[in-house]
Amino acid sequence: MELEGLEKKAKGSGASQLVVKDLKEEFVKDFIFPCLRAGAIYERKYLLGTSIARPVIAKAMVDVAREVGADAVAHGCTGKGNDQVRFELAFFALNPELKVVAPWREWDITGREDAIEYAKKYDIPVSVTKKSIYSRDRNLWHLSHEGDILEDPGNEPEEGMYMMSVNPVDAPNQPEYLDIGIVKGVPVSINGKELSPASLLAELNTIGGKHGIGRIDMVENRLVGMKSRGVYETPGGTIMWHAARELESLTLDRETMQVKDMFALKYAELVYAGRWFDPLRESMDAFMDKITEKTTGSVRLKLYKGSVTVASRTSPYSLYREDISSFENGQIYNQGDAEGFIRLYGLPTRVRAMLEKGI
Ligand code: ARG
Ligand code: SIN
Repeated sequence: MELEGLEKKAKGSGASQLVVKDLKEEFVKDFIFPCLRAGAIYERKYLLGTSIARPVIAKAMVDVAREVGADAVAHGCTGKGNDQVRFELAFFALNPELKVVAPWREWDITGREDAIEYAKKYDIPVSVTKKSIYSRDRNLWHLSHEGDILEDPGNEPEEGMYMMSVNPVDAPNQPEYLDIGIVKGVPVSINGKELSPASLLAELNTIGGKHGIGRIDMVENRLVGMKSRGVYETPGGTIMWHAARELESLTLDRETMQVKDMFALKYAELVYAGRWFDPLRESMDAFMDKITEKTTGSVRLKLYKGSVTVASRTSPYSLYREDISSFENGQIYNQGDAEGFIRLYGLPTRVRAMLEKGI
């Protein structure tokens, strides 16, 4: 749908050729899933929907430039945002010889109104009007809204702005249960039906959107130093994120989970900052690959008016043992052992208290 009229627009704007590539499966499998498996989330809220799309687009651009023998690539990012950094770092990593053309930084376009004027002057059809001037970015994982009334963090987003999700108030009055099958930290099936990465995400977007899941409103720190306010819709991603995290509660021990979560923070920062092609990110993926080796199983979620709650989880590799954890007395765990454990574990606490009390 978004592709309609593109050829005409490209040719009309002076292009000699238009290349359209379907990167959806690659995007979900090789970019989104690693991010999801790592548990990457930026500044407590953002599932990196725009950030993670940049390296896959940049990679395809570099490929096309090579195929057609182009010596430069261009992008439409402003000079004030994160995206320019992400695209250009990816270009640097994949072909440091390519020249980069960034009209927003180099020409007389200093704001979105200028950009609209420019398009009008050269007969380039654009769908944004001066009236609706949200800056939006949409892909299979998410949709972002920035600009316009959102630039004041004191303004509540307008309901009419949302495009992927219904208002939770208008979502069905009956909760919906979903079984998400997971293999090695990534989702593979919905209610027992196996789906390709992109179709799985598309289906969860439909289901999540129907229940008003995954709306995030936040003020974030941009890489270029300023704060910015964004509203993001990530319905399917939010469902997947809950499922993947939940299964780890069965399959990861305490230390492992702590280290993984520490890395997740760094991973998110790398993705946000456009460092996807850095060896550090690749090394972290090797770590994530190993650490989620046994994160396989199934999570049942309940979706209801904007919320995702967990109903149950199971895994053949579960570290949870009912015979050990049960309140009933068992064989393996001897309550008597706890006494000595607490004495030694609490020794520093006792020593400090003794010192304070002059004992
Ligand atoms: N602030 C988000 C990010 O940096 C969303 C950016 C949206 N980009 C856009 N070109 N509209 O990832
Ligand atoms: C832009 O400035 O081009 C969009 C927002 C961002 O990149 O952070």
